[in-house]
Amino acid sequence: MGYNLLKGKRGIIFGALNDMSIAWKVAEMAHAEGAQFTLSNTHVACRMGSVTELAEKTGATVIPADATNLADLENVIKTSTEVLGGKIDFILHSIGMSLNVRKKRLYNDLDYNYLAKTLDISAISFHKVIQTAFKMDAMNDWGSIVALSYVAAQRTLYGYNDMADAKALLESIARSFGYIYGRQKKVRVNTISQSPTVTTAGSGVKGIDGLIDFSDRMSPLGNADAQDCANYCITLFSDLTRKVTMQNLFHDGGFSSMGMSMRAMQQYNKSFDPNEVQMED
Ligand SMILES: NC(=O)c1ccc[n+]([C@@H]2O[C@H](COP(=O)([O-])OP(=O)(O)OC[C@H]3O[C@@H](n4cnc5c(N)ncnc54)[C@H](O)[C@@H]3O)[C@@H](O)[C@H]2O)c1
Repeated sequence: MGYNLLKGKRGIIFGALNDMSIAWKVAEMAHAEGAQFTLSNTHVACRMGSVTELAEKTGATVIPADATNLADLENVIKTSTEVLGGKIDFILHSIGMSLNVRKKRLYNDLDYNYLAKTLDISAISFHKVIQTAFKMDAMNDWGSIVALSYVAAQRTLYGYNDMADAKALLESIARSFGYIYGRQKKVRVNTISQSPTVTTAGSGVKGIDGLIDFSDRMSPLGNADAQDCANYCITLFSDLTRKVTMQNLFHDGGFSSMGMSMRAMQQYNKSFDPNEVQMED
């Protein structure tokens, strides 16, 4: 059952690749809540077919773009205002990729060309999207822009590699641009720091299964899944959160405030060899 939270709103959703993508769930929810929007992803992703299926289901137009390419972004924003019939109320940036992770380069053996690409795709593209919308004056007053982050921006998690640096930059961009866009146009800019989630990008993270289990055991509410994340995004696009800006909002079942939980401790204790413990006694 919908609440019509986005009735009459126009949006752009970047990053829906398949039905596991967080952006896919956001698109479904935005549609259910009455929004009209366009969908954007890389040219390759748009050709793969799934995005078309989502577009048909939600009445959206697909506009291919490499989010690191300014001309592509200008086209996304111009075409979106044309097909949606006016300025934009919300944008979701749900984009991330690390070539170092893909090519299994460790953090103490980074390829710097790959690092530059990681930062450009996963963080600077957020600045590019916002700056393009800002310069084209494409957002309505009190609009909302959201990107997806991860707690590795603040805390070191084994295996997250250079994506941790990208997320730290992403969150900083939300603060820096949030100030300017808020001051001039009342547009809010936030990041949501999401639990580890089973998606195509998530599966690339080293030891993702163990990480998902660990953070689930650590979180009093358990991990937030992609659907939970979509629900939270909708509230940030709605008029109910008009004074929330420049924030990194943890959406992780409580994980980021925990040090050790009973469930995680129980699992940790299982790993001790009882004989070894006796010898120490
Ligand atoms: N899955 C997790 O565990 C998790 C946790 C926290 C945050 N996030 C973040 O959520 C966001 C969405 O990821 P997801 O987990 O839904 O995975 P996903 O693989 O479904 O989405 C990543 C998207 O980025 C797109 N992309 C990559 N390069 C691009 C480029 N140059 N231009 C435009 N688009 C490009 C991909 O095509 C894909 O649609 C990412 O920012 C990710 O870091 C994911």
